[in-house]
Formats: sequence, C-alpha cells, structure tokens
Amino acid sequence: MLKKYRVSFYLLLLCANQFLVVDAQQKSISQKVDSVLRLMTLEEKIGQLNQYNDDWTATGPVTLDNSKAEQIKKGQVGSLLNCIGTERSRNWQNIAMQSRLKIPLLFGQDVIHGFKTTFPIPLAEAASWDLDAIQLSARIAATEASASGIHWTFAPMVDIARDPRWGRVMEGAGEDPYLGSKIAYARVKGFQGNKLGDVNALMACAKHFAAYGAAIGGRDYNSVDMSDRLLWEVYLPPFKAAVDAGAATFMNSFNDINGVPATGNKYLQRDILKGKWGFKGFVVSDWGSIGEMINHGNVKNEYEAALSAITAGSDMDMESRCYKNNLAQLVKDKKILVAVIDDAVKRILKKKFELGLFDDPFKFCNAAREQKELNDPEHTKIAREVAAKSIVLLKNQNNLLPLSENLKTIAFIGPLVKALKQNKGFWDVEVPGVDSNFIVSQWEGLQNKVGANTKLLYAKGCEIEGDRKDGFAEAVEIAKQSDVVILSIGERRDMSGEAKSRSNINIPGVQEDLLKELLATGKPVVVLINAGRPLVFNYTADNAPAILYTWWLGSEAGNAIADVLFGDYNPSAKLPISFPGSVGQIPIYYSHFNTGRPATNDSNHNYNSSYTDLSIFPKYEFGYGLSYTNFQYSNLQLSKKKMKAGEQIKVSVTIANSGKYDGEEVVQLYLRDKVGSISRPVKELKDFKKIKLLAGESKTIKFIIDKEKLSFYNQQLQWVAEPGDFELMIGTSSRDIKLKDNFELIQ
Ligand code: GLC
Repeated sequence: MLKKYRVSFYLLLLCANQFLVVDAQQKSISQKVDSVLRLMTLEEKIGQLNQYNDDWTATGPVTLDNSKAEQIKKGQVGSLLNCIGTERSRNWQNIAMQSRLKIPLLFGQDVIHGFKTTFPIPLAEAASWDLDAIQLSARIAATEASASGIHWTFAPMVDIARDPRWGRVMEGAGEDPYLGSKIAYARVKGFQGNKLGDVNALMACAKHFAAYGAAIGGRDYNSVDMSDRLLWEVYLPPFKAAVDAGAATFMNSFNDINGVPATGNKYLQRDILKGKWGFKGFVVSDWGSIGEMINHGNVKNEYEAALSAITAGSDMDMESRCYKNNLAQLVKDKKILVAVIDDAVKRILKKKFELGLFDDPFKFCNAAREQKELNDPEHTKIAREVAAKSIVLLKNQNNLLPLSENLKTIAFIGPLVKALKQNKGFWDVEVPGVDSNFIVSQWEGLQNKVGANTKLLYAKGCEIEGDRKDGFAEAVEIAKQSDVVILSIGERRDMSGEAKSRSNINIPGVQEDLLKELLATGKPVVVLINAGRPLVFNYTADNAPAILYTWWLGSEAGNAIADVLFGDYNPSAKLPISFPGSVGQIPIYYSHFNTGRPATNDSNHNYNSSYTDLSIFPKYEFGYGLSYTNFQYSNLQLSKKKMKAGEQIKVSVTIANSGKYDGEEVVQLYLRDKVGSISRPVKELKDFKKIKLLAGESKTIKFIIDKEKLSFYNQQLQWVAEPGDFELMIGTSSRDIKLKDNFELIQ
C-alpha cells in the first residue's frame, strides 16, 4: 500500500514539475515579449499588426503595392499571406532581418484540406464522422505546409451552415454544432500537432468568427440576423471547441451580426472570446474586412474603421491598411491608448516566440525537408483512405454495388471522368513547382483497379454546363456495349467555395438528361455525384439504381472511388448536412423546433407547418448513409430511468453486422428534451460512435448521459438543464431511429 502511495506521490511531483516547466517557459516568453516591446517604436508596433498578401496568389481584392520590401525593412509589416515555398519565405524573411529589431515575419496560408497532397474538401471529410482520420488529414497538411515555409493556416473553418446555396458550405463541417465541435477540435489538434514550436506544427486559425454561415439567403457576405440565444446554442460551440483545443489564432468574419460587423464586434471578440473564454492568441481580420466596415455603414472612414476594429479586439489587419495608415494618428488624437496596441502586439509576438522564430527565423525554410515531406508516399496513401471514408452511399438498389472485378466491359461516362484539378475542389493550394494536376483522375483510378480482362470504354457525353447533347449518341453507344455504366456528373469545383452562392443548386446543364438516355438502354447505371455542396438531383435519386456522393476527394480521388466501387472499402460515410429535395425547402435541418402545428407526414398539409407543394422531409437527412452490409440494433439498456443533475445514465446498445461484408457504422445518439423554458428541438445529436464490425460480428457500445448533454441556453443565456422528461433515440441517421427510450431528470 505504501508503495502505491509513493508512486502516486512521485507522479504528482512529476506533474507539478512539468507544470512548473511549462509555466516557466510561458513566463520566459512573456518576459521576452515585454523586452522586445520595450524596444519598439509606435510605428514598429503598428507594423506588427499589418499583414500583406504576397501576390503569389490572391484570395481577395488585391491592392497593388510594390513597396512591401521597403516597408518590411522599416519594420512596418508583421506578416504575409499567400507566400508559399521555402525559397520565397526565406527571401522575405531575409528582408525582415534587415529591419532595426529583426522581428521575424509570420507566413499564413489557407491550408484548408491539404497542401501538396490534397485531401477531401472539409465537408466531405466531415461525412466520414471519423475524428482520427480528420485529425490525421490536418496533421499531414501541417507537415507538408510547415516544410514549405508556412507557419500558420487559416483553418479550420468552423462555421455552422444550414443553407447549401452558400458556396462556403464546402469548407466546414455541416449543420450540427455537436459534430461541428468535435471536428473543430480534431482539426485544430491536427494542425498544431504536439506543440507550437515543433517544426511540423502549424498555428491553427478558427474562422470565421462568427456566424458567417448564417448569411441571410445563403448569399455570401450577407447580413446575419439572429438571437444571442441561437448564436450561443448553434454557431458558437465549434469556436469554443477550437479554443479548448488550443487554437493559436482566430479570424473574424465579413458579415455583420444584427447590424454590427464581426470585425468591429466587441461582444464577440473581447467579451466572449478574450474575456469569457480566456483566449490568449490573436485575432486576424478577414481580407480587408476592417476597411469594409465603411461599406457596412458602421463607420465613416478608415480612421473610424481602425478605431472600431482595434477597440473591438481585431489584433491584425489583413490587407486593408487601415491600421498602418491610422493607428498612430488615433494615438496622437488620444482616441486610443498605446496599451490597446501593446496588447495586440504582445499577442502576436508571443506566437512568434512560441513558434521559435526569434531563435531561428528560417526554421521552416529547410529545402531538404521540403523535398522530403512533399514527396512522402505515406501521405497519398492516407489521402486515399480518408477519401474513401468520405464517400457517401446514397442508394444501392438490388445491391448493384460493389461491382465485380470480373466485369467484361465497363462504360465510364461523364464530364468529370477524366477531369484532374476539378477533383481538388475549392481552396486547394497551388504549390510552386508542383503540377496542379498532381492527382489520380477517376478514369485512372478505374484503370488502376480493373484487371486485364475488363475493358473500359469512355465517353464524355456532355459538358458540366450548357445544353449541348451532341455527345449523347456516343455515350449511349458505349453504354450498349457494356455490362455496367458508371456516370460521373456534378458541378464544377469552382461552383462552390468563396463568393460562389447559387440560387439554383440542381445538377447543372444536361447531365441528368444524359442519365435518362443511359437508363433507357436498360443497362445498370452507377452515378457518381461530384460537388462541394448538397445538390438537388431528384431525377437521379428516383431513377438511378446506385448513387455515390463523391464530393471533391482530392489527390487520390480516382483510387478512392475505385476502392469503393469494387468493395475494397465498404462505404461508411454519413451526411453532415441535410440534402433538400428542393431549394424551396431551404433552410432545412434536422434539429428544428416542433412548432405549434407540426407536420408529421406528406399526406396532410392541413393547418400545419409544411409546404403544400413539397415534402416535409429532406431528400436525404442529416446522418444518412448506406453500407454494403446491414447493421441490426438491439438491446438498448439505460442504467436508470431517473437521474439527478449530478448523476449519469449509462446507455448501452448492441450493434450486429448481419451482412456479408465487413463494415463500419456510425451509431448516433439523439436526445429530445420534451418540455423546456425554451422550446427544444425535436432531436439533437448528443453523441456518436463509429465502430468497425466484421461480417457476422456484434458489439455492445456504451454512451454516457450527463447534465452537460441535457443543458441548453435559456432565455437569460444561462447554460441550464431543466428537470423533466427526455426521449433518447439511437439511430443510423437522424430520421432512421432504430431504438428509443425515455428517462427523467429530477430535481
Ligand atoms: C478570404 C477568406 C478567408 C481566407 C482569407 C485569406 O477572403 O474569407 O477564409 O482565409 O481571405 O485568404
């Protein structure tokens, strides 16, 4: 017994020592920051708050300025974005070392879903519900980007989005705050690795703070109007998860919230982020968003914009030049204290010290390491696995899939079959010296997969857009010669992404007309739908026997699609966002309130909350996705039916793989608080587990229900769990609930 206590005592000592070491490190960094700050002139301090684009590429409206080198030498620039490659960043850093204080530059980049190795777009990865895979994807992206001179990624984008007309829905994790929070946490951890300062660590940047995904009408940059309660309940949780994961930075958003631009929003940036959440990193504006407050009509000029933004907690000015041109005057006019600027400068210097840039400004500029990390075959292997995990099987009539490798002839048709860069989706990175077509096309993926006895026939059939059908005849001809047709259709990669809001989210052009012609041949047709957002494709959904939603899968798209088509990977993905059956249904999401006149089915639209001309259900619901095998749910057990606030209920459920393929299932746990001081949604995702089951295998999995899972923001914005009845639902999707039970929270 004594030995046990001795061991625990030493463990305690070790932890205390570890804490003291970290604390000492932080103390020494804050002492170093203070010592640098004391040396800085006001102009040099303002310089640290100034970020320019490097012009390698532009991700916003460019201001032509060929004096950047001179400004850097004068210490008037703290960071560059869109500077890629060790050579380029070394050159700029060399210029910074000619400044009086030799404060190193920070290099930021949108490393959103991979760097040289492109991973699936974030919305696709979210469909994997595989947090380890998502974290690993970010880790590899960070390893490659940090080897190319980059210190900081403007990711993860954690905006909840419930309107697929918004092009940036492709960049986040979908509609749900619980799933979105788990993914935000995983992505921050992936990007930042063990600790900042490691040579393969990237600073993360949770964006866009906040509620950018709630733009009215799904129109990018549009206003956001919502209650603080909704903001706290749905749109803030992923940002809080990012803070909990230790995100080094935040980026604010272009939109106004209830009339106050996020960039000048003190409530968001100081009261919540830096105050309540205790965030010690720094906030960068979005591209030009400080100056754009003039357009918002929230300030009169750049002088007022700078005042509003710095006061509200925007620490770094991306590309607007408002800080550079106005902060000194604001100090002189006694509109702001130098202390406000000092706080922003210290936050930024702290990160530069943590990254180790003061010790070695060229630490991330190692050309040999760049070559090694950008050519690691393990990265493409993992990209292929993550891509396969992201493919959603929407339909598989008569088990048409998986295809047999003994097929004699396959007709592979469509405008995306031989596309290359399209598969990268939006926000891919153009890496200097890397062929932007460094990608396995869908055609190549199939060629790699099928044996010599299988003949592949190809026809484009039609373009993505336009009404030309002169390619149909060739497509129909090869279809007739085949045993099975694979049709790859969808939108262009740049039809979703930033500033890509669309009012019409049908599959563009005549692609579904082509499907109709191919189905008329009587041949079985497997449809691949490539997109960065939920599309509307009712004809395909109702008539094609098999459908895979392949999103944009990145470098290994072709191989991953082939792996799923032929069953080398059994699809396991589930939709992270509702797919509307019509754009008229938007916004449509699963965790809606019941309303006073709920509609429960499509046969009755009398005096209830429904469209008389539309289904009340989405075409495909949140959490939906099929497998080549089948899973049976049984034996739902709750450890008790009544719980007090400080107690827990243990939940267990048995899942069996009753099919003939090994597979993975995402078991989803939803709760409904039957009565609340604020109406509660008809269901909310409160936990999930992705489990692997061999054919014939069964497992019992466990969940814990605690007060946290029962809590919500009440009218006074207090996080409360109110006594009353709860319904517990275990499902394979938000609509396909397999097992239910009830329990009560008592005083
Ligand atoms: C863009 C985007 C933002 C991105 C930044 C830098 O406008 O809104 O997400 O990180 O500018 O490219």
